Amino acid sequence: MKKFAITIAGGGSTFTPGIVDMLLSSYEEFPISEIKLYDNLAERQEPIGKACDIMISERYPDVKFSYTTDPEEAFTGIDFVMAHIRVGLYAMRELDEKIPLNYGVVGQETCGPGGMAYGMRSITGVLEILDYMEEYSPDAWMLNYSNPAAIVAEATRRLRPDSKIINICDMPIGMEDSFATILGLESRKDMIVRYYGLNHFGWWDSITDKEGNDLMPQLTKYISEHGLVLDTDAFQHNDESWKETYRKMRDVIALTPEIIPNSYLKYYYYPDYVVETSDKEHTRANEVMEGREKQVFSTAEKIVEAGTAEGIEFEADAHATFIVDLARAIAYNTKERMLLIVPNNGSISNFTYDAMVEIPCLVGSDGPEPLHIGEIPHFQKGLMEQQVNVEKLVVDAYVEKSYTKMWQALTLSKIVPSAKVAKDLLDALIEANADYWPELR
Ligand code: NAD
Ligand code: LMR
Repeated sequence: MKKFAITIAGGGSTFTPGIVDMLLSSYEEFPISEIKLYDNLAERQEPIGKACDIMISERYPDVKFSYTTDPEEAFTGIDFVMAHIRVGLYAMRELDEKIPLNYGVVGQETCGPGGMAYGMRSITGVLEILDYMEEYSPDAWMLNYSNPAAIVAEATRRLRPDSKIINICDMPIGMEDSFATILGLESRKDMIVRYYGLNHFGWWDSITDKEGNDLMPQLTKYISEHGLVLDTDAFQHNDESWKETYRKMRDVIALTPEIIPNSYLKYYYYPDYVVETSDKEHTRANEVMEGREKQVFSTAEKIVEAGTAEGIEFEADAHATFIVDLARAIAYNTKERMLLIVPNNGSISNFTYDAMVEIPCLVGSDGPEPLHIGEIPHFQKGLMEQQVNVEKLVVDAYVEKSYTKMWQALTLSKIVPSAKVAKDLLDALIEANADYWPELR
């Protein structure tokens, strides 16, 4: 049986140990010969690399392991790149969130001006990794979690149309885990879901069990009454800001009582509420630095100090499961049904043909085969038309180095109140991102 070689790009990411752990746990169904970590920041990657080395040698000593900042070493002889880079690190995420708030606008990692700023940084980094992969392992697949996925996906569609890259997101599957809990099912895989939209901007309009029984009435009733608040803490998003987002789901679903919205729609439906309840001095970036980042790096340190990973565990959640399932579906042509970000090409029949949409696909060794969605309602279509053009304008701005296109993108965003605020914000973002963005003219 063939064994697969995998490079995790963004080796120093807080999500790397979870993915390594999941690859080891899935070894019997998806055997691997080698795992390599690649990052462009040696000191960030090293503690994670050392801890993973110990984990792997204790559980599967035959799996070769290394970590490096050398692209040739990292990308030669591999079958898959699992990428999750953050260009500018949390320091820049913090600015993406805090600068808009100073102008009375939502400050968020992927939504609104913060997401556009992050997009302008990410495109270069993601293309760089894709190009390394194609140079050193031309047959490999890149499975990409790097955010903001909507803008990154539009950029790769346009700038690397023939590349073997699949852009993905863990939010829908994280929410589906919660749906399964509400329904008393063992796994989200006991449901068959239909979902459509853009990344961080979509809706479930059908969820059935394997026998075809409609599960939507029970789910929509629960969410309308309780939001997505569950009695258990066993999920990926347990910080206070996420709990608030899940409580707010009651008001988010109210706009489409029979259809379940992605929780990120909170930022577009209720931007005034989000700004009012945000703390300009302490945003999600601070919460992550104080929480997940500290926790992951201190766990790594403990493993290295103890010289063993026994009894010390990293968290491997839905995020890790999903990317490993995707690699396995490609490797073994399983035709598993998965939500991926792919070119629309008519799947949503009344929506922009060349948009990148998030919809169910069957995944096999040739990649994703998108399923047909058909026509979507006016409300969703209207919101999506506006948002997809924001994302396209950001990529236009990046490609053409155009100040005007970026100003248009910000002005078009549903959560920016005027062209004046958009311009002030753009000037502040340009200054903050001088080391990362192309110079706009
Ligand atoms: P992190 O800052 O902990 O890790 C990112 C790593 O990427 C860092 O070690 C950094 O040095 C490295 N990096 C940055 N630029 C690079 C480049 N050009 N080449 C190689 N390495 C580079 O970030 P994190 O919180 O673990 O998140 C990682 C990424 O995953 C982010 O883009 C985040 O938004 C994304 N993410 C996506 C989802 C999703 O479902 N789509 C969910 C969670 C996180
Ligand atoms: C994270 O936890 O960093 C991501 O899942 C997204 C977010 O908003 O925090």
